[in-house]
Amino acid sequence: RWTVDKTEQPLTTHPHVIQASLWIKKNEVIAIPTETVYGLAGNAKSDEAISRIFEAKGRPSDNPLIVHISERSQLEGLVSSIPETAKKLMNTFWPGPLTIVLPKGDEVSEKVTAGLSTVAVRMPDHDIALALIEASGVPLAAPSANLSGKPSPTTADHVYEDLKSRIPGIVDGGSTGVGVESTVVECANDLVTILRPGGVTLEELEKVAGFGHVVVDPGLENEKHAPKSPGMKYTHYAPDAPFVLVDGSPEFLQGLVDKEREAGRKIGILTTEERMDFYKADCLIPAGKRSNPETVAQHLYEALRAFNEANVDQIFGEVFPKEGVGVAIMNRLEKSAGGHIVKE
Ligand code: TXA
Ligand code: MG
Repeated sequence: RWTVDKTEQPLTTHPHVIQASLWIKKNEVIAIPTETVYGLAGNAKSDEAISRIFEAKGRPSDNPLIVHISERSQLEGLVSSIPETAKKLMNTFWPGPLTIVLPKGDEVSEKVTAGLSTVAVRMPDHDIALALIEASGVPLAAPSANLSGKPSPTTADHVYEDLKSRIPGIVDGGSTGVGVESTVVECANDLVTILRPGGVTLEELEKVAGFGHVVVDPGLENEKHAPKSPGMKYTHYAPDAPFVLVDGSPEFLQGLVDKEREAGRKIGILTTEERMDFYKADCLIPAGKRSNPETVAQHLYEALRAFNEANVDQIFGEVFPKEGVGVAIMNRLEKSAGGHIVKE
C-alpha cells in the first residue's frame, strides 16, 4: 500500500507515485484513487496489462474498459475523431466524472474496447490519478477496482478486501469524493445519449448540450432493448444477503421488517441519517443524508459492503427520487437488488 497525501506537492515526483508508475511501465496493474471510485489501472496500449486487469477482477472479456488521460494531447492515437458536441462536453466537464465514447484510434489495445469500434475516455478530477498518468507516460485503462459483481471500492481498504492477493499494490489517496462511477455518454451530431448515469447529471449535461438534446439509453429502463453500454447488462454491486428495495413510507418498510423478524430472521436496513432513529432492526446502516443526495452517493457502496460484516439474512433499502445524482443512486440500487422492488 503506497500512501500519498494529496497536499504533498509536486505529486509527479512523489516517491510512491514514481514507485507505482514503475509497475505500470512493466505492464503490471495497480489500484489508484480517482474522484469517483478506485480504479484498477494498467497501460492502455499493452495487451499484457489489459489481460491482467480482466484476470484480477474476474471480469467478462466482452465488457470494455474506460481509458484515463491527464491531458487532451493523449487523445491522439486513442480516438480517430472528436465531434463538436464531445469537445463542448470536454471543455465543461473535464477533468471530472464524465466518460465519452468516441471512435477508436489505432494505438489502443483491442482488449480495452472488447472488439468494439469505439473507446470510452475520461480525464479524472483527482491530483494523484493525474500525476500517476503523467509519471507513467501512457493513458491508463481502468475499470473499478472491485471483484466483478461486488460494490465498487471507495477506499483503499475496499480494494484490499477484494484484490489483496491479486495485484502488486494499491495507491492510497483516502476516500474518493463522488462515490458513484462516472457518467458514460455517446455523442452523435448534437445528440448526447447517457449510457450509464453517474457523477455528472442529466440536468448538468442539458445546460451544455441544450434542453432536449440529452436522452437516456432506452436499454437502461426497458428490458426489450439491449443496453448500449455492455457493462449495464450485468448484475452488480450486490451485497451477500438478499436485498429488496422498498418504495413506500418508513412505516410500511418497518412493517415488512417486523414480519421477517417475528419469523426469526436477522434483518438489515439501508437507510439515511434522517430515519436512523425511526427503525428497529438487527442492523441499521445509513448511506448519507436524504436531504443531501451527494452524501448518499458518497457512502452508498461503503454501506452495501458493511452489511456483509453484519451477517444479516435479508436487507431492506429505502428508495430515492430519480433526479440529479438520484438517478445514478437508483440505477446502482436497482442493480444491487437485482430489480427486486416492493411497492406500498
Ligand atoms: O468512474 C468511473 O468511470 C470508474 C473510475 C475507475 O474511472 N471506472 C469504471 O469503469 O466505472 P468500469 O469498467 O467499472 O465501467 C465502465 C463502463 C462499463 O459499463 C462499460 O461497459 C462501459 O463503461 N464502456 C466502456 N467502453 C465502452 C464503449 N466503447 N461503449 C459503450 N460502453 C463502454
Ligand atoms: Mg465497475
